[in-house]
Amino acid sequence: MYAIFGNPVSHSKSPLMHNYFFKKSGIKECYGRYKLEDGSKIIEKFKNLKLKGANVTVPHKEWAYKLCDEVKGIAKEIKAVNTLLLENNKIIGYNTDAPGFKEAIKEFDYKKPLIIGAGGTAKAISLVLKNPTILNRSKNRFEYFEKKGLKTYTWDNINEFDFDLIINTTSAGLSEEVLPTPKEIIEKLFKNAKFCVDVIYGKETLFLKEAKKYNLLFKTGLDMLVYQGVLAMELFLNKKLNKKEVADIYFEILR
Ligand SMILES: NC(=O)c1ccc[n+]([C@@H]2O[C@H](COP(=O)([O-])OP(=O)(O)OC[C@H]3O[C@@H](n4cnc5c(N)ncnc54)[C@H](OP(=O)(O)O)[C@@H]3O)[C@@H](O)[C@H]2O)c1
Repeated sequence: MYAIFGNPVSHSKSPLMHNYFFKKSGIKECYGRYKLEDGSKIIEKFKNLKLKGANVTVPHKEWAYKLCDEVKGIAKEIKAVNTLLLENNKIIGYNTDAPGFKEAIKEFDYKKPLIIGAGGTAKAISLVLKNPTILNRSKNRFEYFEKKGLKTYTWDNINEFDFDLIINTTSAGLSEEVLPTPKEIIEKLFKNAKFCVDVIYGKETLFLKEAKKYNLLFKTGLDMLVYQGVLAMELFLNKKLNKKEVADIYFEILR
């Protein structure tokens, strides 16, 4: 038995994705969802439910990071855990969000990436990209990136526009029809870009609509969601999977 912990959690697509994969692959396992209000109880719940593995979503990734027995891989740097796994009676924490993003854009042969946004997702993604630059509406969250030697710009002082990959990690566009930067900045960026990603999923954002006008190759948050799931499944089953084939199974049910 596997599950996802979150609050809210009813919207999560993970049970649908993973159960469909189990069924298609003839694996006799089951994946549920658990609405957890108190994040400090996450490990206790994991044990009570006798889970073999779990995913963790908003707002409990930091609790999972703090409370699991051991953290492995990039989760140590991100300081957030989205996958828990029972290994030799210990609960081990991993993060497949950022590696999932990297896997999702594998076919993009980019050289100069720009991340729009400076929140949690931007931080995680910045760890798996080649020397990204950050653009955000305010400079409050720049310390993390500047400590890592990354270039940062706000809307007021950006003076380079020759990036080939543009990634929107802001929540602008999620509930309103707005762009993540003023339109003239997006236009200048898209004129030079080849690839673009919007981490939002479930709708075509204004950012993506604009990218299509410039014929950019694009990925959406769905690709990121699917590949974090594929990497979590590799951990759950403790074996290497054909990622593309498994991703296609997830896309099939999600679409
Ligand atoms: N596809 C996936 O699997 C996946 C995974 C994780 C997250 N996400 C999505 O990623 C998005 C960001 O999540 P997060 O956890 O990183 O959020 P977060 O930590 O709260 O950061 C939000 C960022 O968006 C900026 N922002 C918010 N509203 C804006 C607006 N109207 N115009 C311009 N910038 C704006 C903020 O700028 P300031 O610093 O100036 O406030 C900040 O940089 C959400 O939409 C979430 O659903 C998707």
